[in-house]
Formats: sequence, C-alpha cells, structure tokens
Amino acid sequence: MHSRWLAALFVQTLGQASLSTASPSSSSSISTAPFQGTPDDAFWYDWGWYGFRPLQHFQSFGASPSRPYLLQHDPRCSAKKDDKDTSEGDDLIFVAPRGLSVSTPAPTIYDTRGNLVWMDTQWGQAMGVTVQQYRGEDFLTFWHGTDNGTFGEGMYYMLNSSYDVVHTVRPAPMHPGEEALLGDLHDFVITDEGTALMTLYQKRRHDLTAGFGIKDGWIFDSLFQEIDIATGKLLFSWRASDHFPIHDTLAPLKWGFGRRSDKAFDFFHINSLDKTPTGDYLVSSRYMCAVACISGSTGAVLWQLGGRHNSFVDASDGQATNIHWQHHAVWHEDMQELTLFDNGAYDKLVTASHSRGLRIRLTGIGGDDDDDDAQPTAELVQEYVSPDSLLAPSQGSVQILEDTNTVLVGWGHVPAYTEFAADDGTALCDVHLCPLGFSTFGWCKNYRAFKHRWVGRPATLPSAAMRPAEQAVYVSWNGATEVRHWQLEIATTSTKGATYVKHGEPVEKDGFEARISVPAEAKSVRIAALDRTGRVLAYSAAMSTSKKTAVKTMYSPPPKETLHQVLFRFAAFITLGVVGALVLVYLIVRYRVVLLSHVRRIASAAGMAVISVAARVLPRRNYRYEALPTTTSAMAEIGSGRLGGGGSSPEDSREV
Ligand SMILES: *[C@@H]1O[C@H](CO)[C@@H](O)[C@H](O)[C@H]1NC(C)=O
Ligand SMILES: *[C@@H]1O[C@H](CO)[C@@H](O)[C@H](O)[C@H]1NC(C)=O
Repeated sequence: MHSRWLAALFVQTLGQASLSTASPSSSSSISTAPFQGTPDDAFWYDWGWYGFRPLQHFQSFGASPSRPYLLQHDPRCSAKKDDKDTSEGDDLIFVAPRGLSVSTPAPTIYDTRGNLVWMDTQWGQAMGVTVQQYRGEDFLTFWHGTDNGTFGEGMYYMLNSSYDVVHTVRPAPMHPGEEALLGDLHDFVITDEGTALMTLYQKRRHDLTAGFGIKDGWIFDSLFQEIDIATGKLLFSWRASDHFPIHDTLAPLKWGFGRRSDKAFDFFHINSLDKTPTGDYLVSSRYMCAVACISGSTGAVLWQLGGRHNSFVDASDGQATNIHWQHHAVWHEDMQELTLFDNGAYDKLVTASHSRGLRIRLTGIGGDDDDDDAQPTAELVQEYVSPDSLLAPSQGSVQILEDTNTVLVGWGHVPAYTEFAADDGTALCDVHLCPLGFSTFGWCKNYRAFKHRWVGRPATLPSAAMRPAEQAVYVSWNGATEVRHWQLEIATTSTKGATYVKHGEPVEKDGFEARISVPAEAKSVRIAALDRTGRVLAYSAAMSTSKKTAVKTMYSPPPKETLHQVLFRFAAFITLGVVGALVLVYLIVRYRVVLLSHVRRIASAAGMAVISVAARVLPRRNYRYEALPTTTSAMAEIGSGRLGGGGSSPEDSREV
C-alpha cells in the first residue's frame, strides 16, 4: 500500500515535469483545450506523455480540472437543436474523478467537447453526480462524506440551478429512538412521488455457522430506505440479511473476515436502487451477482436476475443472466427493460474478458403485456462493449438517452465513458477523463458518468483576470450554462465612477475561459456575459488595466493525511529501501563465488540452449567448399606431387 502510494507520487511528479518540459504541443502557456485525436494518438495521453493527470489551467479561475481526451466524436451524440430552438440548457456530462492522482477531487460538469462547465473543489470527493427532478425542478444531486473503502458515510445534497444547497437528505433511524445511520455513497434516487431512495451499510453480529462455521460472526449488512424528502419521514426500510442467506454470496470470505468486528463480512454489497410503478424496489447486489425485485409491501424477494437463485429462463443463451459483480440496475417500465453495468470482475477476481453495458428485457413478471402463466424470461436486447474492451473491476453506470437514441456507459474504475448507438451498440463518442494506462492502480477513477440537459445560473459574477503584460483580459464564469458571448467594455478613466462603452465585437464563448485583447487607450475594463439572444446576464467586476488581477485558489478540503504522515511514510519507505539495498549488497558480496559459479553455469546452459534451438530452427544449407591448400608446407607438398598433384577435386569435398 505504502509503496503504491509513493510510486504514484513519484510518477505523478515525473508526469508533471514531463508536461512542462516535453509536451510536444506546449507553447509558452499551457493550453486549456481538451485533447482531441484518434484512438491511436490517445496512446501517448494514456501513457503519461502529457503528465499522469493532465489538467486544464485557467487564468480567471482558481481550480484545475482533469483535461480529458476525446478519441471519437459523432454528431449523433448531440440532440438536434435548430437555430429557432431557443430552449435553455445544453447536454452536459456529469462526473467526479477521484483517486490518488486527483489532488483536488470535485463534482464536475463538462460539455460534450470536454470543456469545463462547472466544478466545486470545496466539496472534495463526491459520488453519483447527476441531475434529478423534485417537485418539477431540476436539482444537481450527489453524495458527499467519508469513503470507507467499500462504502460511504455521509449525506445527499440537492443543489438548485444557482448551485446552492436547497435540501440535505439523510437516512432516518431504523426504529424510533435509535440513532440514524449515515448515508452510503452507492445510490440516491429521487422518485416521482417526491421521495428519496438511499443505500446504507451497517456492521452487526450475525451467526455465520451455515456455510462458514463461524458462530459469533460479524457482517456488513446492506440496507435501503425510502424517505419523504420534505418531512424526512421514513416510509420503507429493508435489510438484506432478513431476506438473503449469507452463504448465498459469491464473494469469497477472505482470510480472517467475518470473525472480528473490524473485519466484518460484506456479503451482499448493495450498490443501486430503483422503484417500479407497482411500488416494488429494484436492488443490485454486487456480491450475490444478482438484481432483485423487493416487494414494496412485505420486503420479500419477488424475483432475482442472476446469482444462485436466478428466476429467469435465459432466452439469449446465457448472455442475459450471467451477470457478475454488476452495478447500476435501472428499471425502464415503458420498455419492460432493465439496464445495468455488468463489470465481469470484482477487483482481482476476473470472470469476463470485458465489462458490458446491458439492456435486458424481462417478461413473465406480471407486466402489462404478460399472460399470467408465462415463465419469467430474460432476453438480451443489446450489449455495449467499449472499443478498447475495457474491464472495470468496480463501479460503472449505464444511462439510456432518449433524445438521441443513444446509451452512455461510464467505465467506473477505468476513467472513461462511451456513448453508443442504442439500437446496434456502435460506439459513437469516446472520452478518456484521465490517462487509462494507470487505471489498474485506481489513480483516477469515476464512479458514474451521466449526461443531462442542465441550466446553471450561478449566483456569482463572471470572473475576469487582467494580464497587463499581455494587454489581455481572461474571463470565465463557473457553472453558467447560458453564456454565448463575452463583450469587452472599456473606460478611459480609472475604475471609480467610470462609464463603460462596448469595445469590439462580442467574442464567442467556445470553452470555459476566453482571452480578450485590451486596447491601449483603456484604463479600466469589465466584461459582460451575453446569452443567446444578446441580453446581458451579468458583468464582471471592473478592473484597472495596469494591475494584474489576483485570482484566489478555490478551497479544497485537505487530504486525510497530514504532511507529517506523508513525510513519515516517505522516510519509512526510503529507510526500508536503503536497508533492503544494503542487505542485497551484503548477500551478493558474501555469496559472490557461489553466485558467480551459478551465473556462469546458467549462462553457459542458456547459451547452449540458444545455440541448439538456433541449430534446429535456422535453415540448413549444404555449402560447397573448394579445398584449397592453406599452408606453405602443403603448397610445397603439392608442388612435389606428393598429394597426387592438381589438388583435390571439388566433387570430393562436397559434403564436408
Ligand atoms: C469509517 O471511517 C471513519 C473515519 O475514518 C471511522 O471513524 C469509522 O469508524 C469507519 N466506519 C466503519 C464502519 O468502518
Ligand atoms: C437556490 O436556492 C437559494 C437558497 O435557497 C436561493 O437563494 C436561490 O434563489 C435559489 N436559486 C434559484 C435559481 O431558484
């Protein structure tokens, strides 16, 4: 663990160094635009040529998001919007990269071309950043709290279009008078009825005699609750250990687990929730390798897809029910379909060659079209496989996008997302959020990826930064989605009481930040943000053109390790390394004779082996030798005729 951490630090430092010295595209200042190219070019990005976590840097904004790589882009990923369409908002991408190389994690919004739209590092690590509707209004929602490795302890936040927290949702006590558990990171779903579903984990004692022979065992139980958002009232709660035998799990009980409180056995691992129109619940259990339908009245398991007790006949030759370690199961009533992310791997336990986004049609489960005695049947409608055949050992998401008839798959542990044609599974748009070469180590991962139309109207002002040395001003507005142009306004007096006049044409906003040249006569400037109709949304603060504007770095919660701990680890690592090296040197010197003889033996054996293999493999030819006399004495003998004169005939020497 320590060495991995240090390796990451080392490699990251190296990567950043390579960014500033060797980046082929770097000019005087680091470009902020996302990378774009072919899958072949992405090789360099993926293997750290631009740094191990390339960032977008801005002059007018004090945070640096990951700089993604667009491998593939297709117009079919964008909903058609004609010129007359003045509807607000664009389709944007919602992610939250995190991991060892992500020094300032944040809920983040990108546009579909990889430009930053919004990020807020003050939150630090967030999970499941998405847009959900509550009482007819769009909210940006996510989980935020402490990540305990396999689950989370925190709360759910609902931000309105000005990015203000309007609702904080937390679990209710399971029983009156009890202390409430904290909210788990895996899922937070707002239903049409204004309620919220959330996952919870609870450590408790449990008899593990059956299957494991542990009498006084410990488990991490998986729970979920439905809460009324307005009142916080608990409407429904469910606990996995009441309905699933522990030994039905497919997760191996690793050594020592289940016996001690600090090694509780996570046998179920709830990781997604949904509610059906009949008032039942859909639960994904990673370690049962199953998606279960839970009765909304009794909590009983009505059916399950996959796992040891799969209820379905597989009409697709096993492809619809052989799910493993899956995430993000969502019910689509109109299609009688289930979407889910089939990981096919659980950390190092690999059960498939690649992960799959899946659409599975379920019939015979009491839907409208079903005849009552039909057998429950599962049929694979379409699968979505990454162009790189990515295998995500954890996390991941699948989202159907109806406007474009596409499907967005987030590859979880592998920081990438791909948009597919829904009907045939063709990959249309493909983006790497961070270099994938190091994704095995989890240096940068992204729990889920979503695409939504979102309108952001931040309560802040546009942020402008004057750079007198460049005679230019930089401008951006974190989270503002409706800006289409920036208009420079100048005054020939100092900022106090100045009257501003427009200067030049409006500059199109085609990225997070724009750079606008400032004319020499301007003494002070400000920038107007214009919407698509040319209306002024807001003005930046006014600035003197002779002063460099200072831009504050956005606050980011410090990593859980203090500098002392980091230094201690570093020292420990170095000490261990030095001691190890000394021991190695001692051993080599002490046993050098033996080692050398071994080395020689091995080398000569290897040499012989190579030669004998070569002798077998290399093409053989019969060489024709002319038997020429080679020594002067032989010449003399020829001269004296003792060798029969005339030399030997070529025929004699043919097969030497
Ligand atoms: C989770 O982590 C927090 C902080 O590190 C710790 O206090 C808490 O006991 C952990 N909870 C469990 C259930 O392990
Ligand atoms: C968002 O919520 C804040 C705080 O409640 C409120 O002041 C603000 O007006 C709201 N913004 C919008 C766009 O409704």
